[in-house]
Amino acid sequence: MTQALKPKKVVDSKTVMTEMVMPNDTNAMNNLMGGNLLRWMDIASAICAGKHCESYVVTASVDHVSFTLPIRLGEVVTIEACVTRAFNSSVEVYVEVFAADVKGGNPHRCNHAYYTFVALDGLNGKPQTAPGVIPLTEIEQQRYDSAPRRREVRLILSGRMKLEHSKEIRAFFEKLV
Ligand SMILES: CC(C)(COP(=O)(O)OP(=O)(O)OC[C@H]1O[C@@H](n2cnc3c(N)ncnc32)[C@H](O)[C@@H]1OP(=O)(O)O)[C@@H](O)C(=O)NCCC(=O)NCCS
Repeated sequence: MTQALKPKKVVDSKTVMTEMVMPNDTNAMNNLMGGNLLRWMDIASAICAGKHCESYVVTASVDHVSFTLPIRLGEVVTIEACVTRAFNSSVEVYVEVFAADVKGGNPHRCNHAYYTFVALDGLNGKPQTAPGVIPLTEIEQQRYDSAPRRREVRLILSGRMKLEHSKEIRAFFEKLV
């Protein structure tokens, strides 16, 4: 039986991936195609989750992504991925995307998303326990604290949880009324 891993710091698995937008990556407007950006975000966050879990991981869900600003042909795209919190076998990863020109000029934040991965046992392909996350900074703590709420939203939207069984969402809305 595999020994449970100790909780790990966010920085231990932080992943930064850099790509240059080439002609093959663009749409008819010479901007990065949304699907290609999602693919890069998926790869960066999977590396991060795999490193955190020290196992194979699969993407279970991707939360809402808005493409606020176009990323142009020739721009350099930097994708930063950090774990926010682990539950049982799943781990949530926060991904941020930045773009800049090739000289590093005009840097801007383009979008962000939350990806959820499930750690799999390499032998039988079944979900296995993911190590906990130790938040150290204020922003890491904020993302850690809000993660159960996001988890409930995605489980409700995917039909895996009934609204009446949610705790975090109900508590959140009860506070508002
Ligand atoms: C993700 C997957 C492993 C879950 O398998 P399963 O048999 O439903 O396993 P479980 O019911 O034990 O759930 C395992 C974890 O997945 C999470 N999960 C499953 N579906 C989810 C979803 N839509 N959103 C968020 N989390 C989800 C569960 O909440 C659970 O997390 P927890 O252990 O931290 O509580 C399975 O659905 C799968 O293999 N999907 C395909 C993954 C894939 O190929 N991804 C690439 C897409 S091309």
